[in-house]
Amino acid sequence: MSRILSSSLRTLPRVSSKPIIPTTARKAFISSSSSINSNPAFAQDQQPQQDDMPIAVKTAAQWAEFGRHHVCHGLGRIRDHVIVKGEGLDLYTADGKKLLDFTAGIGVTNLGHCHPHVSRAAAEQVNQLVHLQCSISFHAPYLQLIDRLLPAMPHESLDQFFFWNSGSEAIEAAIKVARQATGRQNMIVFSGAYHGRTMGSGALTRSKPIYTQGTGPLMPGVFSSAFPYWHQLGVNPSTSEEELVRLAQHQLDLILRQQVNPKDVAAIFIEPVQGEGGYVPVPPAFLRHLREVCDKHGILLVIDEVQSGFFRTGSYFAIEQIVPELRPDILVFAKGVANGFPISGIASNKEIMGKLDVGSMGGTYSGNAVACAAGVAAQEVYQSGEIGRNVEVRSKQLYKVLNKLASDEKTKHLIADVRGMGLMTAVEFRNTADECTLEGLPEGKSVPKNIGKRVQEYCLNKDLMVLTTSAFDTIRFIPALTVSEEEMDRAMTIFTEAVESVAREG
Ligand SMILES: Cc1ncc(COP(=O)(O)O)c(C=O)c1O
Repeated sequence: MSRILSSSLRTLPRVSSKPIIPTTARKAFISSSSSINSNPAFAQDQQPQQDDMPIAVKTAAQWAEFGRHHVCHGLGRIRDHVIVKGEGLDLYTADGKKLLDFTAGIGVTNLGHCHPHVSRAAAEQVNQLVHLQCSISFHAPYLQLIDRLLPAMPHESLDQFFFWNSGSEAIEAAIKVARQATGRQNMIVFSGAYHGRTMGSGALTRSKPIYTQGTGPLMPGVFSSAFPYWHQLGVNPSTSEEELVRLAQHQLDLILRQQVNPKDVAAIFIEPVQGEGGYVPVPPAFLRHLREVCDKHGILLVIDEVQSGFFRTGSYFAIEQIVPELRPDILVFAKGVANGFPISGIASNKEIMGKLDVGSMGGTYSGNAVACAAGVAAQEVYQSGEIGRNVEVRSKQLYKVLNKLASDEKTKHLIADVRGMGLMTAVEFRNTADECTLEGLPEGKSVPKNIGKRVQEYCLNKDLMVLTTSAFDTIRFIPALTVSEEEMDRAMTIFTEAVESVAREG
């Protein structure tokens, strides 16, 4: 891998770093029965040991108890496992369990946990330069990451970049850019959208109240229109795409005629595949319509590919498959960009970014050197072509099983919808609380309660990590994009058993 500026600097003497934990004490814990758990903080027998360790040593159960006492109550978890290692799709717990991870850290470790090429690049970078505040100078990995991302952009106008750490921060950056560039304040978002949890990004989020409840007032000036998804429009799942688009366009039109003048709107934010809204791809006609509305009124179109980017749906960015010629004014990305290293960003064009005041953008850790180096290595893997090919075959394998469950006499009365793109796929279960999901319910069949939660519980008990999504009864599948045929098969066997068991028990 080429590294700008690196060869001359490599000859500089390195300062040796002594381990903080005394070697003798370390050895006592590393030479344990488990080769996976080499973390010195875990006692390998069931007794806590103290010795001269500078950090507390506890059993896995004690660490979990410690976590329950000290980790912020507002942070939820699907299980209280204490994870010590990840490799590919495998996660290892401190008490020796191996889990099959179909969550990928919510669509982050697209190349699998600790992908060797990415981890190696990060490790090398750690010994070159860890941090350089981006307002002090350029640093090499920052520039190299831009160099790697440029050819991956879904439109050639996107050649100006700003990096931040999280998806929410990148959304904050997009809000700021949109307001500065247009001189307008208001934003339009869609029902079911998830753009983050901070005061600006949280104001754009419309998937569940929990993310911002009790914390208002949030950023004002946000208008919400219906996403072209049957739940949001109160129609049945069999409603044609054409009709969904017509209804959603009508809602947007009403907003622009009754609630906010288009000349006061800075930007329209949309996820090409709604993530926390239930893994719902946007119909191409609706996205084209948004581009037209934006062009007509001088509004910026912001495409949030935080969850759908980096081959999650089979292409670098989902919009390439939905509307290949689409020109986003701002593209927002995060998650898969560096396979788990915290970095996010926005890309826009010269005209828009050129309107920013110098010094208005920045952040201490924005574009951290180690995260950028990991991002460069991740792009090298994405650009090899293998990841996209794997998503294509593995998603076919996944859909085959899900479609079979949706048509099988034993289980079809449980399933309302199978949808998504690539390895961003979901099953929505019927729910008596949502009348529209009961469309097509076979005669004489009743719908049990909480199907999704029960299916998830079954899978978790079989050591398959799966997530629900949205305010509706939905399970999503977002494994690493490197998932093998055998891993997909194993996961689908457990999932099928889970659905069949709910069908049997009723
Ligand atoms: C589409 C989308 N936008 C923004 C965010 C916020 O990203 P983060 O959690 O990194 O702040 C997420 C997170 O799930 C997301 O899915």
